[in-house]
Parts: sequence; C-alpha cells; structure tokens
Amino acid sequence: MPGRKIIITGVPGVGKTTVINESILRLKEEGIDYQSISFGSFMFEMAVSKGLVKDRDEMRKLSRDDQKHLQQLAAAAIGKINGDVIIDTHASVKTPKGYLAGLPEWVLRELKPDVFVIVETDEDQILIRRLSDITRVRDVDGFRALSEHQEFNRAIAASYAMVTGCTVKIIQNPDHLLERAVTDMVNLLR
Ligand code: AP5
Repeated sequence: MPGRKIIITGVPGVGKTTVINESILRLKEEGIDYQSISFGSFMFEMAVSKGLVKDRDEMRKLSRDDQKHLQQLAAAAIGKINGDVIIDTHASVKTPKGYLAGLPEWVLRELKPDVFVIVETDEDQILIRRLSDITRVRDVDGFRALSEHQEFNRAIAASYAMVTGCTVKIIQNPDHLLERAVTDMVNLLR
C-alpha cells in the first residue's frame, strides 16, 4: 500500500542522516514506523555491481550519463517500496561539471514525494563537521561555496514543489541543538 514519501536533503555533512536516525528512534517510541532509505546507498550498490566505483564519494565524479543512469535505477527500485518512507538524498549534487539535479523529473515521477525537507545549518559548522569526518572523502568547501550550494538547494526545491505539488520544509540543525532539529522533524513526520 502506498504510504507517505518524505524526501530529506541537505548538503553533505549538514547532519541530515543524524537527524533522520534520531527522529526514527523517537517516532518508534510513539509506535510510528518509518522506513529510512538512502538513495546514495542504492546508487552505490548499483555502481559497484557495474564496476564504476569502489567508494561512495567517487560517484559524484562519474560522468553525467553514468550518474543519471544510476539515479534512474535507484528511483525505480525505491519507487516500488510500500509504506511510510523517508528517502535520504540530495536536492543537488556538486559535480566537477556543476550542480546535478538530485531529483530530475524522471526521479520525481517514480518517488512522488509528499514533503520535501532541506536540512541546513551555518556554513562554518558544516565545514568543521566535514573536516572532522575521517571516514569520508568530503569536498573541502569554504563559506562562499557552501553558501552557494545551500542557496541553490532552496531554489531547486522550489522547482520540485512546482512539479509535484509537495510542500517544502526547511529544518535548521545547528551545533548543540540536534534535539531541536529532531523535534522539528518528528513534528513533521508524526
Ligand atoms: P549520501 O549517502 O547522502 O552521503 P553524504 O552526502 O555524504 O551525506 P551523509 O549522509 O554522509 O552526510 P549528512 O549530511 O547526512 O551528515 P551526517 O549525519 O553524517 O550520498 C552519497 C553520494 O550518493 C553522494 O555524494 C552522491 O554522489 C550520491 N547521491 C545521493 N543522492 C543522489 C541523487 N538524488 N542524485 C544523484 N546522486 C546522489 O553528519 C555529519 C556530522 O555532523 C557527524 O559527525 C554528526 O555527528 C555531526 N552532526 C550532525 N548534527 C549535528 C549537530 N546538530 N551538532 C553537531 N554535530 C552534528
């Protein structure tokens, strides 16, 4: 049975996965179940099976055609999942050739989102979070580049709302205020 589809985005390192995981735990205590799906993990499994990458951070450097093909495969698989679903993904992906739409029309058609969330915080905090994460090969962007990416994500989210009729919610996830971000997310998902 089709349920609610909530798309959650944010620039890498903003903490969207942390907010999602904490929110799911809180909702479980209330008896509300959401399945969390990482769009990037679906793409990664497919990219590995095709021998395209060894590391998930290599995906954003693949050719545009390869990334589009992986997006299509991931969207088709995720679109078939029933129940209430959170999809952890990106409004746009920063590639060496410019921003790639994370949810072009053919992806939106498969996912049919009800709500589109952008998780944001101050750029200096994102940079520090990226530098602190030694498990990943994250882009080391400065204030301006991060600010541009967050602004671009708001703009492209507006176009997703135009195409699908979904609402767009912006959730702030500042340092030391994770609980507040989780409360905002839980209120949205409840
Ligand atoms: P993905 O798997 O989404 O990885 P990512 O972009 O690196 O995002 P993460 O989930 O790792 O980071 P996050 O922002 O959720 O931060 P986290 O919770 O870890 O995507 C992988 C790849 O897949 C992409 O690069 C792309 O190539 C591809 N992809 C995905 N979707 C796509 C699409 N639609 N189209 C095309 N390609 C796509 O937190 C980071 C740190 O911050 C942690 O240390 C955490 O403890 C800390 N933190 C979090 N919140 C707080 C807080 N409030 N205060 C202090 N610290 C905090």
